[in-house]
Amino acid sequence: MNSFDFQPRTRLVFGPGKIEALGELASEMGARRALVVSDPGVIAAGHTAKGVAALERAGIETHLFDGVHENPTTDDVAAGVKLAKRYDPEVLVGLGGGSSMDCAKGINFLFTNGGEVKDYWGVGKALRPMLPMIAVPTTAGTGSETQSFALISDAKTHVKMACGDKKASCRIALLDPELTVTQPPRITALTGIDALSHALETFVTSRRNPASLAFSREAWRLLAGNFAKVLQQPDDLDARGSMLLGASFAGMAIENSMLGAAHALANPLTTIFDVPHGQAVGVMLPHVIRFNAAEVEHQYHDLLHESQNGSPLPKLQGGVPGLADFVSDMLHQAGLSTKLRPLGVDPLKLPQLASQAVKQWTAGFNPRPVSEEDLLALYQQAF
Ligand SMILES: [Fe+2]
Repeated sequence: MNSFDFQPRTRLVFGPGKIEALGELASEMGARRALVVSDPGVIAAGHTAKGVAALERAGIETHLFDGVHENPTTDDVAAGVKLAKRYDPEVLVGLGGGSSMDCAKGINFLFTNGGEVKDYWGVGKALRPMLPMIAVPTTAGTGSETQSFALISDAKTHVKMACGDKKASCRIALLDPELTVTQPPRITALTGIDALSHALETFVTSRRNPASLAFSREAWRLLAGNFAKVLQQPDDLDARGSMLLGASFAGMAIENSMLGAAHALANPLTTIFDVPHGQAVGVMLPHVIRFNAAEVEHQYHDLLHESQNGSPLPKLQGGVPGLADFVSDMLHQAGLSTKLRPLGVDPLKLPQLASQAVKQWTAGFNPRPVSEEDLLALYQQAF
């Protein structure tokens, strides 16, 4: 059994309409000035204005940085830092999807510790204290709100840098399911598959431990039981709440057990062929599950058992292949591709993809060791 050191760093505040409590929560921290980091889509949906109004009602001087793009870059972070230097916030609020939350974390690194994003690439590189941050996710996906990592892309090379530091963990994750109802269907699909993959990958990594397994298992129950529901009935608030909580629990699982080969295989697909993260992970995951079965079949069976034990989960037939088929079926229901070819991936580039995938940090935590040849074979199976 793996040893572990488990300390939850993020307070979870969950409930429909909880966005109204944002001001009080920031006040409790003693903050007098806030910088809200958000993106144009979330602003257009009206969620950002609700958060800003709640902060202002509590007497907090609030400024908005609205320059976040999908897969935030070092340029986005630099623009946010410029605003932070002008207004000197005492709390940062990341309000939006993973991009807004990660960008807020990136701003936090540079505003409090100086230097460039690449200085924080890796783990525990920030030497000085960081600002408290509140995350308000509007998607149920990355789980950035419960993890200490920010994914920031280099604006020139497009390389994704994972910058992790316990000090970058959000002080509070404010989980309001009402904010997730307005997501465009494609975002619900992409983020839902990502969250589901976090539950499945963390459940079997070589770092898994009793604490991470508790979060992975509950994340799986919430996500597998509700993903089809939110695809079919986007305004089902209970199902949306379950997805949001599931994604946050999966984030806590990542924090305590890392990820595996599906994420290692996904990153080069995003960097080289611009395949969205959820699609890239989802297309590879069924193949990784079948590959991993040689090592962790009993572990996967635990989840199958979970699903057949009176819980509201879909009944999965056929053992571990049935679990892989379930993921493919979810992709299908979500309108996403189950093959690489329709995603514009060049078959001649598969070896290049494999050489990048093997260098990904998460490849090292896959329960069954993966070589470059293994990863190439997985790409070929998914083609
Ligand atoms: Fe992911």
